[in-house]
Amino acid sequence: MVKKNFYITTPIYYVNAKPHIGHAYTTIAADVLARFHKVQGEDVFFLTGTDEHGLNIQKKAEEAKKEPQIFADENTAEFKKYWEKLGIKYDNFIRTTDEKHKAAVQKALQALYDKGAIYKGEYEGYYCVACEQFKNERDLVDGRCPDHDIVVEKVKEECYLLKMSGDVQKKLIEKIKNDEFRIAPEKYKNEALSFLESQDLRDVSISRKNVSWGVELPFDKEHTTYVWADAFLNYLTGLGWHGDPKDIPSKWPADVHLIGKDILRVHATIWPIMLMHLGIEFPKLLFVHGYLLSGGRKMSKTIGNVVSIDEMLEKFGVDGTRYLLMSAGTFGEDVDMTMERMVEKYNADLANGLGNLLSRIIKMSEKLNHELKDYIGEKYEERTSTKEFYKINLEDINLCGTLVQIWEVLVRDDDKFIEENKPWELAKSDKDKFEKVMEKLILDLNLISELVIPFMPETSEKIKKALETKKAGILFPRIK
Ligand code: ME8
Ligand code: MG
Repeated sequence: MVKKNFYITTPIYYVNAKPHIGHAYTTIAADVLARFHKVQGEDVFFLTGTDEHGLNIQKKAEEAKKEPQIFADENTAEFKKYWEKLGIKYDNFIRTTDEKHKAAVQKALQALYDKGAIYKGEYEGYYCVACEQFKNERDLVDGRCPDHDIVVEKVKEECYLLKMSGDVQKKLIEKIKNDEFRIAPEKYKNEALSFLESQDLRDVSISRKNVSWGVELPFDKEHTTYVWADAFLNYLTGLGWHGDPKDIPSKWPADVHLIGKDILRVHATIWPIMLMHLGIEFPKLLFVHGYLLSGGRKMSKTIGNVVSIDEMLEKFGVDGTRYLLMSAGTFGEDVDMTMERMVEKYNADLANGLGNLLSRIIKMSEKLNHELKDYIGEKYEERTSTKEFYKINLEDINLCGTLVQIWEVLVRDDDKFIEENKPWELAKSDKDKFEKVMEKLILDLNLISELVIPFMPETSEKIKKALETKKAGILFPRIK
């Protein structure tokens, strides 16, 4: 049987600094989904990477007194290092400074130029260097970018523009409306539509004359490619695409582009319109998540209010960090993260929750006459409603909801079940009932170990091991 393809991407992150937990949030979510689809038997391809060109990085490199390539290399190494620490298993890591990527970008731009989708003109506007975007005047707050709280720069220059309005805009609206190009959750679909329907899109500048750190335009060496046009194409070059619109990799279209809401607008305008001009299919789903907030504001390298990945890893371990990020709040909504709340949740759900449940059950099972694995097998595979719920919710990218459900119906209910049945007393007074009670608990643990595979791969292994050996170490040490 032919396996179903599942191609998932994260944004490619700017290398202006090392990653923080905002980037980890998206990347872990993509990793969880990739692992889930793999367990479902699909042929999964998970792409992440780094966005290395543009004015912001050029400036940051200058400040650091480094060549931009060296600066980019160093920060890319940081991203790779942290993804490894967090147990991220991507299939490819694309860098926009890869020679193959750059050559493909040039080829694609040439195709757009030859088709007349790109023309020479002039652009005037307010540029936010952290967004790497021109901002509408009405979106500014006191002349500042509301996302980054920095002063925007007035720019007027000769450039090449991509046609955005008219027919392509109409078609785009149609495809978003009928979910051919699905945007989820629903509120982001509505947000994109209301933006698209309220105005004629302005043609976008796809080149910069005064930014040297970028991919040279193939048809005018005095310009470099606008960093977003360069970046979007990663979703294709990451599959090995060479830039020929007639020769598209078989894994395309992407099943999911996972992004934060900060980059919804560009993903719902420039990217699909580039694809439309190139005659390439749209991605199937743009899934948008909210911000991790700190002190009520978006955590941002530019603002400087970030929680470090190291701090989380040190306190909570790999799986603790993955769990806390994925269960912090509804995926799609903004989530405020305070260290205090995370410690509380870690102790409640992991140390006193799952960890304690495992050690209790293993301890009590000493009194059983059988091996624990004797309880696990096909005849016991009946917890279909939990499994169904799980599958439907993860297919729907309801990450937090899935964890909440697992903890509710398995971890917490089993704790209650133990309190009510007092198996340690049954072991003396009613051997048969003791056997039955333990059987349920062992099966639940086994199910938990299966269900948490995508979220907490190491923990899943540890639970399995404990069930095999009747020995359990401490899964999650309590934090005082
Ligand atoms: O925008 N909360 O790169 P970037 C949640 N290079 N997610 C967050 C976050 C936060 N506080 N901070 C960052 C770019 N993220 C472009 C993308 S794609 C073709 C080019 C995550 O380094 C979230 O996924 O600014 C957000 O969309 C992304 O990092 C932005 O990363
Ligand atoms: Mg950003």
